Amino acid sequence: MDQTVSPLAARRSGPLKGRVRVPGDKSISHRALILGALTVGETAITGLLEGEDVINTSRAMRALGARVERTGAGAWRINGVGVAGFAEPAKPLDFGNSGTGCRLVIGAVAGCPITAAFDGDVSLRSRPQRRVLDPLERMGARAVSVADGGRLPLTLTGARDPIPIVYQPPVASAQLKSAVLLAGLAAPGETVVIESEATRDHTERMLRHFGAEVAVEPHGAHGRRITLKGQPELRAAPVIVPADPSSAAFPMVAALIVPGSEIVLDGVMTNVTRTGLFKTLREMGAIIEEQNPRVEGGEDVADLLVRTSALKGVTVPPERAPFMIDEYLVLGVAAAYAQGTTRMRGLKELRVKESDRLAATAAMLRVNGVEVEIEGDDLIVRGKGRVAGGGLVATHMDHRIAMSALVMGLASDKPVQVDDTAFIATSFPGFVEMIRALGGDLS
Ligand code: S3P
Repeated sequence: MDQTVSPLAARRSGPLKGRVRVPGDKSISHRALILGALTVGETAITGLLEGEDVINTSRAMRALGARVERTGAGAWRINGVGVAGFAEPAKPLDFGNSGTGCRLVIGAVAGCPITAAFDGDVSLRSRPQRRVLDPLERMGARAVSVADGGRLPLTLTGARDPIPIVYQPPVASAQLKSAVLLAGLAAPGETVVIESEATRDHTERMLRHFGAEVAVEPHGAHGRRITLKGQPELRAAPVIVPADPSSAAFPMVAALIVPGSEIVLDGVMTNVTRTGLFKTLREMGAIIEEQNPRVEGGEDVADLLVRTSALKGVTVPPERAPFMIDEYLVLGVAAAYAQGTTRMRGLKELRVKESDRLAATAAMLRVNGVEVEIEGDDLIVRGKGRVAGGGLVATHMDHRIAMSALVMGLASDKPVQVDDTAFIATSFPGFVEMIRALGGDLS
């Protein structure tokens, strides 16, 4: 990570106009590299997100023995080692800012008879890893050393003969589910994950795409039971990465709040496990039209036309949280520009993201004159249809805080400043340029 600090301010802008494509989906990009590396044969990826998080995963795959080459913009080729075929890395694997890369690779390594060390930046070192180590130790892996509080740096010895388990995650987490499924690839028999609340399903879909047998059944009111048949022969398969809905969220909210705007976001993934924000914004009165819906690389995608809209406050139910877990910061911005109160319920997991996002969302809004409260795990924003601005927002090494604050400043009375935009490159390289191209004033 480039350690240069880059402050920036967003100013009230004229109408946003244009047609843009945000970068490739981060979740799918990590998974394409990891599954490509666990497959014998050549996997070609197009549209890969070339953000720092994903680049760190590509380096880890190389360090674990896969051949990974970049052949053009977003075009990558991987020659994998096969299930359980990772080689012992010579140095600690450094995941930078990325919880997803780190936890998924911990899972993949847990099914291989090797020892690997995992590390990351100050933000990632502060995040809990016990949640992934617990089920993986039940499968036969051993955490040889772990920093205090179950954190990075940690060293893991994978299982020589992994044991398939039936696992019910204590928190709704796609990372946790994916770590267990990736370890389960190397185990004989069936590895089962029972989610009481469904989370994003890209691992399940991509496992199938690479030839694994994965059965998914409903479980309870909001959950799923996922069964993976172990020790499959994964077959190399091309992956087309769709545009990331979590990145699309930023220009989308910008267009909703900047008067007179109309933009089109091309090829955005509309997988329902990712579109909780779009649903919530529509409930608030947002005009978001799906045009040209189609399937690309096994995922539903559409072009999204977004027009400035009068928004009203709503209550967001807790079971929707896994489907929009990365979007609450920018929803907080939309809620501030809405008329009335928005209550976002059940946000406990936000406390353990790249930063404590529950506290960070409240702080970002408050410093810009928005009335906001935290009640237990709920966030309450009292929207007045306008935002005073004038605040300096601390990004806490969190890309989504930086982007949300800049979006807020495009329509506020006074400019909104952020202390550091450097971390935007982890997930959305080109964000500043794209907002400027649409007509946003960032300087
Ligand atoms: C991700 C899952 C989510 C999300 C993260 C990406 C994934 O984390 O916050 O940005 O790709 O699986 P949790 O599953 O831990 O909530």
